[in-house]
Amino acid sequence: MTVVDEPLAMKRAAAAALAQARAATEQLIAPVSDEELTAQVSPLMSPLVWDLAHIGYFEELWLLRELGVAAAANARFDDLYDAFRHERRERGALPLLSPDDTRAFLADVRQRVLAALDDVDANPTDPLLRDGFVYGLVVQHELQHQETMLQTLQLSGWPYPTPVDDDVAAPPEVEEVFVASGTFTLGASDAPWAYDNERPARTVEVGPFLIESYPVTNARYVEFIESGGYRDRRWWSDDGWRWVQGDRAEAPLFWRRAGGDWTRVRFGRAEPVPAAEPVQHVSFFEAEAFACWVGKRLPTEIEWERAAQGARAADANLGRAAFAPLPVSPRATSSLGCHCMLGDVWEWTSSPFVRYPGFTAFPYREYSEVFFGDDYRVLRGGSWATDPLVARVTFRNWDYPIRRQIFSGIRLAQDV
Ligand code: AVJ
Ligand code: FE
Repeated sequence: MTVVDEPLAMKRAAAAALAQARAATEQLIAPVSDEELTAQVSPLMSPLVWDLAHIGYFEELWLLRELGVAAAANARFDDLYDAFRHERRERGALPLLSPDDTRAFLADVRQRVLAALDDVDANPTDPLLRDGFVYGLVVQHELQHQETMLQTLQLSGWPYPTPVDDDVAAPPEVEEVFVASGTFTLGASDAPWAYDNERPARTVEVGPFLIESYPVTNARYVEFIESGGYRDRRWWSDDGWRWVQGDRAEAPLFWRRAGGDWTRVRFGRAEPVPAAEPVQHVSFFEAEAFACWVGKRLPTEIEWERAAQGARAADANLGRAAFAPLPVSPRATSSLGCHCMLGDVWEWTSSPFVRYPGFTAFPYREYSEVFFGDDYRVLRGGSWATDPLVARVTFRNWDYPIRRQIFSGIRLAQDV
C-alpha cells in the first residue's frame, strides 16, 4: 500500500491550480493596453486594473493574513481593494496602483504565498485548510474575476482577439424532457471547493415538470422581437415592463438591426447573429417575458439542478475557448438528456437568491450571505467564459434582474 502524504499532495495541487489560474489571467490581459486597463468602461464594471489588484488583495487576505503568515503589505489596500468599500462606478477615480505596480503586487503576493506553503500547517481539523479549501477559494475567486473582466472587455467595445464566429448551423426543433416527480440531493456535499451558498446538501422533492433540452436559440428569440414582444405589455411583469420602457430595450444587449437582419457586436466586431446559438445578454425580465410569450415559464433553480444532474464540464463550452456560445448540440448532457447544461450561457431561473436551510456563512459573510434576499435572481450552469473549475451543477450565480452585460441566456420549463 502506498502511503500518500495528504498534506503534501494538497499543497502541490494548490500550487498547480494557483499557477494555472494566474497563467490564464495573464493570457487574458496580454492584448490589453495599460490605458485600457485603467479605464472606467462603464458604471457597472470596475477598471480592469482594479480586478487585477483585487485578485492579489484577496489572495494576500486569505493565504497570508488569515492563515497568520504575514500582515498586509500595504494598509491602504483594505480601502482600495475590498469590494465593499467603494462602488464599482467609483473605482476609476480611486488612487489605484498603476498597471505595472499591480503586476508587481500580484507577483509579490504570489511569491510570498508559495514561500509560505511549506510551513502551512495542513492540519485537516482546521476547516479553512481542510481539503485545501482556502486555496480553492482563492483559485476560484481569480477564475471568477476573469469572467468579470471579460464582461468589461465586451462592454468596452474595444477590439479584442477572439476566434471567428461564422456559425451558420440551423437550430434544431424544440424538444422537451419530462421530469417525473421524485426526490434528489440538491446542493454540494462532497465537493471540497463548493461555496457556502451551495450547502448544506439536502433531499428535496421536485416535479413533475417539462424542461427544454436546449437553451433558447437566437433564431427563436428573433421571432419574439419581430412579433413586437418588446412593445406588448402582456408578456411582461410589472417590474419588467417598467424596466423595458425605462431602458428602451428592443433586443438583447449588443444587438443592432441591419436592414432585415440582426447583427451583434462581440468583442469590438460586428457579426451576424448566429441562428443556432443560445441567445445571450438578456436580462431576467427579458427571459421572463420571452417565456410568457411562448406560453411557458423559467425553471426554478431546484428544477434546473434536477434536470442538470450528471452533466459534465469535460465536454462543455467553457473556459473561453470559443469566446461565444456555440450552436446548440448534444454536449454537457445531463442524465435526463438535457444538453448544454454547463457552459455556453448562464441560465436565468425564477428563484430569488436565498439561503438553503441550515446555511452557515463560511468563510466570510460577504461572499453570499449579504446578498441573500429578493433583490437577486439565481443563474445556473456557467457560460462560455466560466472556467471548468467553477462550472458545476450545484454552483449558484446571482445578479439583479435588470443585468445583461453578463453572459446570460434562457432555458424554458413548463408545468405538466
Ligand atoms: C458570484 C459573480 C455574483 O462577482 O459579485 C467575486 C463573484 N465574489 N468576488 C460577484 C465574486 C467575490 C460574484 N458573483
Ligand atoms: Fe472578488
